[in-house]
Amino acid sequence: MTASVWPADLGPVVCVVGARPNFMKMAPILRAFAANAPAIPTLLVHTGQHYDRDMSDKLFDDLRLPRPDINLEVGSGSHAVQTAEVMRRFEPVIDEHRAACVLVVGDVNSTLACTLVAVKKGVPVAHVEAGLRSFDRAMPEEINRVLTDQVADLLYTTEAAAADNLAREGVAGDRVHFAGNVMIDSLLFNRELACSPAQTLAAAGIDSHRFEAGRGVVTLHRPSNVDQPETLQPLLEVLREVSERLPLVFALHPRTRGNIERFGLGGLVASERIALLPPQGYLEMLGLMAGAAVVLTDSGGLQEEATALGVPCLTLRENTERPITVTHGTNTLVGRDVAAIRTGVADILAGRGKRGRVPERWDGKAAERIAAHLAGWLLARHGRHGT
Ligand code: UD1
Repeated sequence: MTASVWPADLGPVVCVVGARPNFMKMAPILRAFAANAPAIPTLLVHTGQHYDRDMSDKLFDDLRLPRPDINLEVGSGSHAVQTAEVMRRFEPVIDEHRAACVLVVGDVNSTLACTLVAVKKGVPVAHVEAGLRSFDRAMPEEINRVLTDQVADLLYTTEAAAADNLAREGVAGDRVHFAGNVMIDSLLFNRELACSPAQTLAAAGIDSHRFEAGRGVVTLHRPSNVDQPETLQPLLEVLREVSERLPLVFALHPRTRGNIERFGLGGLVASERIALLPPQGYLEMLGLMAGAAVVLTDSGGLQEEATALGVPCLTLRENTERPITVTHGTNTLVGRDVAAIRTGVADILAGRGKRGRVPERWDGKAAERIAAHLAGWLLARHGRHGT
């Protein structure tokens, strides 16, 4: 069913972002919603889970995301407090704006919190990047994924394994749609605009010449890697060792920076061959990764971006919820096994790194598919039920 304009009595799609990895997923969705025929009206809500300039505002600028219509300013807190605060502050937004639907992305606390509020009010929920599973329930994100997918109405997936996971959990197949990867929409859209590594290092006051012949890019922020000195210390030791062969650019998440200081481990990463940077903007990170010899990370997004860029990636986790990056892409799981990290880097430097290929529907058009499908679904539903 199509209409040339959005019905006046069908409200906006309330689009939720909360934390850094949400922003690059939402930017192409908002562009596709505006370009859809009919244009899909939106209300952009930032929960404020991430609030530092480095973790939030800078990303809005880089991605040309419009300023949020509403910022709930929840800030940091325990999982319970953060989730509860988002719920409490999000409920009046739904009431006031008569949402046609709530669209959430990814797996952060804001994703689950806003989903719970909406479904209990009878407002449909669309989840983008649904069905990913690490099968590790000690990860807070895994809890957020499983629960969001159980109650959301529309589940847009990035890879085939997601549909299998959802079927296994009893989710009806007609809720699941293979849209592709909006994160890669952002990457392809912005690739030409990436900042040069020399510029990024200079901006941090670091002499870039040491990093010109080759570099590794490191990010670490998972609580399982950085919250205990017994796990963080050996990881920093092996990174120090790797840096003797390959200079490293290490973009420090606030959690990681705080823990390195708290545990007195700063000496391990104080080296001319390790560039310690604050959390980076999107275009800076893109420039650092493109052309890197290797990415060492525990981030979900970087595993996918490395695959799209054809850069070998060593993931410092025991599992990944993004298995296609391993089976088709450039990713290898090395866990916290320092021997595996050492061998992984040596193999890559010897030219034996995975080259990989780009997975199906990681083609820059995922957001367009979501816009077309969601508009059709909402308009058909509206035709049946009114508002
Ligand atoms: C969150 C997401 C994780 C995502 C990550 C990306 C959940 C459960 N986790 O984890 O999936 O990969 O974001 O960064 O939602 N802090 C700041 N400034 C900020 C934000 C956080 O200093 O703008 C510090 C605070 O000390 C805070 C800590 O970082 O307590 C952790 O932040 P939080 O949002 O709780 O979780 P992340 O570890 O960032």
